[in-house]
Amino acid sequence: MNTNYVRIFDTTLRDGEQSPGATMTSPEKLEVARALARLGVDVIEAGFPAASPDDLEAVRRIAVEIGNSSSGKQPPAICGLARATSKDIEKAWEAVKPAAHPRIHTFIATSEIHMEHKLKMSREQVLEKARSMVSYARSLCEDVEFSPEDAGRSDPQFLYQVLEAVIEAGATTLNIPDTVGYTTPDEFGALISGIMKNVKGIENCIVSVHCHDDLGLATANSLAGINAGARQAEVTMNGIGERAGNTSLEEVVMALFTRRPVYGLETGIDTTQIMHTSKLVSNYTGIQVQPNKAIVGANAFAHEAGIHQDGMLKNHQTYEIMRPETVGAKQSLLVLGKHSGSHAFKVRLQELGFDLTDSELEKLFERFKHLADKKKDITDADLEALVSDEIYHPREIYQLDGLQVACGTMGMPTATVRLKGPEGELHVHAAVGAGPVDAAYKAVDEIVRTSNNLVEFSIRAITEGIDALGEVTVRIEGTNGSALLGPQTGTFQSRTFGGYGADTDIIVASTKAYLSALNKLLVTTEKYKSQ
Ligand code: KIV
Ligand code: ZN
Repeated sequence: MNTNYVRIFDTTLRDGEQSPGATMTSPEKLEVARALARLGVDVIEAGFPAASPDDLEAVRRIAVEIGNSSSGKQPPAICGLARATSKDIEKAWEAVKPAAHPRIHTFIATSEIHMEHKLKMSREQVLEKARSMVSYARSLCEDVEFSPEDAGRSDPQFLYQVLEAVIEAGATTLNIPDTVGYTTPDEFGALISGIMKNVKGIENCIVSVHCHDDLGLATANSLAGINAGARQAEVTMNGIGERAGNTSLEEVVMALFTRRPVYGLETGIDTTQIMHTSKLVSNYTGIQVQPNKAIVGANAFAHEAGIHQDGMLKNHQTYEIMRPETVGAKQSLLVLGKHSGSHAFKVRLQELGFDLTDSELEKLFERFKHLADKKKDITDADLEALVSDEIYHPREIYQLDGLQVACGTMGMPTATVRLKGPEGELHVHAAVGAGPVDAAYKAVDEIVRTSNNLVEFSIRAITEGIDALGEVTVRIEGTNGSALLGPQTGTFQSRTFGGYGADTDIIVASTKAYLSALNKLLVTTEKYKSQ
């Protein structure tokens, strides 16, 4: 047995699904189980089969389809949870037995508060129940896990007695739950050390940790337990679970991976699958990942402060302890906002194809800082709009001369647009759209007739109150090939064009923004290039 190997027991589909509102459909559970198998977890706790016939069927399907699939590596063990009753154990067995490696996980509480108030059982009765039910589970299934619920608040001496009894009865994995997330890392580590030292027969079992995050200590407690000898960690993707959740899979796995010299341990997880699995779980459960969540949050690899961005551009190790690709995230993000410095600003403009002089950059950076004071994130469209306003002053081939829209719930959104053309002539067109902005853009397209795709549209209020000034930025992509040449300055290299418009009427602001992007595209075409 590899004593440096930590088994990853994923309970996203059982404890995770117990998060308020996280219920998943049976096909969604199957899809998550498939992703977990790809991720390389050792055990999937697929559900609590006694909870309902649907739950039993969902676990059974996972046992059949995921518990037997062999894409080169051995399939994960499929586990079903059962209270310490023969009925629950039979249902769990019925659900998991089609798997190549079935496991029954049975539990009973061992803390005074649970025994007295919830179970209304004496210590002796709990001890006997644990022994007899593990023995019964073992008569059905070779792989039996036992959990003394609320172990974190149980009397260690009684815990040792119960654990010895279930080992004798045939338990193969002993899971130690901090059910209410009460312990500190020192206490939990000591609890596991005590079990390793004092329980007869423990050397023949796998000791497991299962921590809840009520005090935000679940990952720290799990790692303390692993340090003390546990070789299975029970975790959920994104840390979802009862109340404040469970230990998160990505945190434990990446701590062991990133700090290998400290722990000297390994897991079977393919870390590059983490991000994909996290997104899948978040989409199916409807539980969004907080932006600052370790490893999988949207900001986990984003840098905004100027000093950090400067460091990152010189050497990513200055502010990153792991690479985003290692966890399957796309790339580090240098977010342009009010804390950004001129170095990151210049690099982003270069990436967008602008080659500016130092004095142009200086002027632009000042305007960028003003904009960033009003707007949280500065997009590429904002930058392009800034550059063209400040530096290039693009020709206005078409100008908005009038706009009228009809919209609401009583009819089809319709816009009538009047544009002044290159020779000062007026063009009027009306169009129907999915909404007023769409209708206005369609009417503009009928007049301007330059094929393009709208690739970005963002709208916001830049002043407060009901009469706020609306600001719109858009980005379009020319689709007729001629836009590849770049505008008259010859410095654009990308095929996209940003446009900006502001007005108290957001449809007017949207139309101005679209026209300003279209004008930039038009001056790259053969027809207007030489004029
Ligand atoms: O938190 C807990 O105690 C549990 C057990 C069923 C293992 O989820
Ligand atoms: Zn739990």
